[in-house]
Amino acid sequence: MPDMAIQVKNLHKSYRQLKVLQGVEFVVEPGCIFALLGPNGAGKTTLIKILSTLLKPDSGTALVNGFDVVAQAAQVRHSISLTGQFAAIDELLTGRENLIMIAQLRHLKQPLRVADELLERFGLTEAANRRVSAYSGGMRRRLDLAMSLVGTPPIMFLDEPTTGLDPEGRLEVWQVVKELAQGGRTVFLTTQYLDEAEQLADRIAILHQGRIIASGTLQELKKLFPPARVEYVEKQPTLEEIFLAIIGQKEAC
Ligand SMILES: Nc1ncnc2c1ncn2[C@@H]1O[C@H](COP(=O)(O)OP(=O)(O)OP(=O)(O)O)[C@@H](O)[C@H]1O
Ligand SMILES: [Mg+2]
Repeated sequence: MPDMAIQVKNLHKSYRQLKVLQGVEFVVEPGCIFALLGPNGAGKTTLIKILSTLLKPDSGTALVNGFDVVAQAAQVRHSISLTGQFAAIDELLTGRENLIMIAQLRHLKQPLRVADELLERFGLTEAANRRVSAYSGGMRRRLDLAMSLVGTPPIMFLDEPTTGLDPEGRLEVWQVVKELAQGGRTVFLTTQYLDEAEQLADRIAILHQGRIIASGTLQELKKLFPPARVEYVEKQPTLEEIFLAIIGQKEAC
């Protein structure tokens, strides 16, 4: 295993005159959950596309699992899975057929068993034989994530994995991501939700105006800001807590 799961040096990428990445640098240690934050249009998806070999950088280097994303693209592709910002699911196939297709593409020995295990894990067993065109947004997201778990690539890229999910769905995804990292996989995710990064990430990086302007653990990032003042306020439940409590009660009935 290479020292670093991902190593990016002085990466540049422009779309015509629009300079998106202007000297991006960072490393990701193996087995770590790394969250990339940044406002809309910061270049998060562009960076993920470069790291997953879908797009070539203009200059700079990026190594994924020790392989160069330009010179050793095939080896990089064998080392990764990618869940894009917009789901890459075949609408005309059922959930089970989508999973079997990916398992076959990855040359797994028992595609049907792999598919059924993942359907079970993501609560999609009942919907397994329905066409994806009839799935809800949350179900699609879960299927998309399940598809990225076919085979055992050591590095996973998740571009906004919980966008469009309800709070319960988000918690499920967080749980899966945590389990993956505990199992030794490296997870590189982008998110718009700061609480998601807070909950999940071992390290956080902020992409702004083409560069990583801050990175570190949450504790390290907190030190960049002035010390918190102590205030005494009544603790109100968050909307998320209320929502989950009500949903839980419904299911218990
Ligand atoms: N194929 C393309 N051609 C031209 N411009 C592009 C292309 N893809 C992205 N861009 C532009 O590059 C910038 C970065 O886009 P990118 O999708 O990487 O941002 P992002 O951080 O993922 O944003 P979001 O949070 O909205 O997903 C944006 O200004 C976008 O409009
Ligand atoms: Mg994006």
